[in-house]
Amino acid sequence: MSASSPRKFKNPRATYNFLGRTCSISGVGSYVPERIVTNADLERMVDTTDEWIFTRTGIKSRRMAASDEYTSDLASRAALRAMRKAGVKPDQIDLIIVATITPDMPFPSTACLVQQKIGAYRAAAFDIEAACSGFIYALEIGQQFIMSRTYNTVLVIGAEKLSSIVDWTDRNTCVLFGDGAGATILQNRPDSHGLLTACMGADGRKADLLSMPGGGSRCPASKESVAAGLHFLRMDGKEAFKNAVQAMNTAAQESLRRCELDISQIKCIIPHQANRRIIDAVSERLGARPDQLFVNVEKYGNTSAASVAIALDEAVESRRIHRGDLVLLVVFGAGLTWGAAVIEW
Ligand code: UT7
Repeated sequence: MSASSPRKFKNPRATYNFLGRTCSISGVGSYVPERIVTNADLERMVDTTDEWIFTRTGIKSRRMAASDEYTSDLASRAALRAMRKAGVKPDQIDLIIVATITPDMPFPSTACLVQQKIGAYRAAAFDIEAACSGFIYALEIGQQFIMSRTYNTVLVIGAEKLSSIVDWTDRNTCVLFGDGAGATILQNRPDSHGLLTACMGADGRKADLLSMPGGGSRCPASKESVAAGLHFLRMDGKEAFKNAVQAMNTAAQESLRRCELDISQIKCIIPHQANRRIIDAVSERLGARPDQLFVNVEKYGNTSAASVAIALDEAVESRRIHRGDLVLLVVFGAGLTWGAAVIEW
């Protein structure tokens, strides 16, 4: 489809080209810290093996931020790369949204710290917390601001320093996660394609499946809470796995239905990179071909809100996605939360 023939949808929840507005992704960028932690490194830290980690998860390595490198630093580097590719200057940005569960501190927001680091002083700034689904939630929020004519340029970032909330003595979780950030610039560009739809879902009844119990108003930091390990993330892996497959499949189907698309029309599927087996199970349920999938979980592990943002940047950089291609993003995380987005690149 050419830039001069905008898509038309019967379903109004496919918001593309609404009253002459479009939400175009005009730049994407990512950043991962330099330090690589391999499965062999973890074999020296906990009772695990490279074979177990790779066969159960598909992960070979993950990145770890330096002790003086924070979520806002990773986010700012990814943001500057996305801005450069979009040709956007700091003073053009109207709004910064950071999706993260590992903010630099409870307040002020990481988005405000990013604003200062990239010099986008005209922008409003806030964080959102939807765990591994955060990037899709933030895309949907950003899209709403663009389509409602409130803002013209929104910086959406998914960024995490999960190494700061991982219990490095717990083999059940420490092998799974990594640090990194991905960013996109959303803009109203009526002559361009963009985000066709984004959908979100949640189920708070299953909040206990994946959580970090300490540090909030229910359990403020104390000697006891630290000793009990309440400031580390916890997960019921098996239940999370089952729910992830089901929710990602449902979200992907809903986003395709809204856009009147069939999975065979999607050029590139970018699922949340938590576990290769989850990705394959979702792909099978969707009836997707292996060549439609973009997977980088082997390099970075699960980077939560940064996961699909980093993968989207890598898919574009490696020319897996070309102008006009249809791209499906699909995510799942703590909350429980889930979501999917369809982009015409
Ligand atoms: O991003 C948010 C969403 N996250 C997810 O959706 C993650 C979902 N869950 C998963 O990816 C998988 O459930 C895990 C990778 C976490 C676990 O894989 P699994 O195939 O479900 O393994 P399991 O929990 O059934 O554990 C099997 C065994 C256990 O030993 P026993 O009880 O059978 O003797 C574990 O103690 O594997 C053991 N185990 C390990 N062994 C070696 C757990 N972690 C490790 C490890 N190394 N790192």
